[in-house]
Amino acid sequence: MEAINIIESIAEEVIKGLLEKPKQISSKFFYDKKGSEIFRQIMRMPEYYPTDSEAEIFEIHKASLTDFFCKSCEHVDLVELGAGDGAKTRILIKYMLDNNINFRYIPVDISADSNRKLTEDLNKRFNYLRIIEKTGDYFDMIEELSEEYKNRKIIMFLGSNLGNYNREQSIYFLNRLSGMMSKDDKLLIGLDLKKDPEVILKAYNDPHGHTRNFNLNLLERFNRELGADFDIANFKHVPVYDPLGGAAKSYIVSMKKQEVHFKTFDKHIKFEKWEPIYTEMSQKYDMDMISDFAESTGFTIEENFYDSRHYFVNSLWKKI
Ligand code: AVJ
Repeated sequence: MEAINIIESIAEEVIKGLLEKPKQISSKFFYDKKGSEIFRQIMRMPEYYPTDSEAEIFEIHKASLTDFFCKSCEHVDLVELGAGDGAKTRILIKYMLDNNINFRYIPVDISADSNRKLTEDLNKRFNYLRIIEKTGDYFDMIEELSEEYKNRKIIMFLGSNLGNYNREQSIYFLNRLSGMMSKDDKLLIGLDLKKDPEVILKAYNDPHGHTRNFNLNLLERFNRELGADFDIANFKHVPVYDPLGGAAKSYIVSMKKQEVHFKTFDKHIKFEKWEPIYTEMSQKYDMDMISDFAESTGFTIEENFYDSRHYFVNSLWKKI
């Protein structure tokens, strides 16, 4: 019964988006089992520079970051929103353990499965790490944490995950976050910066085809889960980058006039030749946008940490 309701609510949102003009699908639907696997391939390829840049930032600045987190403080909780496989965070965790910082690591994720795997992996790697895994909605979990523990929280939101939100959604998200934080808490937010448009475009149009597979997996997922009959040979992965606003956007474009049938729900969706579906926004930022975001949502920037190429920034914000 439960499972059917979940399928129905996904189907409703997907079909509604495909009936809109222009057609759109939320990027949250990328991450089924297959999509999460393709995303791990994306993170491993050199063209997808954000992962390497952020890891380099942690390598270069781990001592300084740790000082900002907890200089002569009693105890600190490192809370990571959407931790994934924790590969970058491991750099910090190892450094903090080696330097006897009194901390706990609290990964927050909506996927119980991925959180379980992460916790098992970290427990194997680090004998003395204290982990508290929290599975659920980010805001529900932060609220729970604040009630349970009074330690200083460093909330980490990495990987330029904010980039999937437009300005209005970002402000809403950050305001909600700051509203739940205590005066002593901090936010470490990882954001992808504006750079050579060619470099950006390559990250979303890689020669291995991983990003194409990631984007088109949406249609395959609808075939698998919603009984649709998309023929992906008739659709094209189209990424674009606008250097003015800094928006990288991904589309799926119909290469011919066609009709797709969602059998389970008996819905027909018509496509014109070259009609796009808007599937993802990956915003790139400059420092003016970043300080504007911080100041509009109850934060001040304490420090910015860059990689050697200045491709990416980890911005440390204090709640005011
Ligand atoms: C996980 C949302 C930060 O937008 O760069 C990677 C997802 N999409 N390649 C991004 C993604 C295509 C990624 N985020």
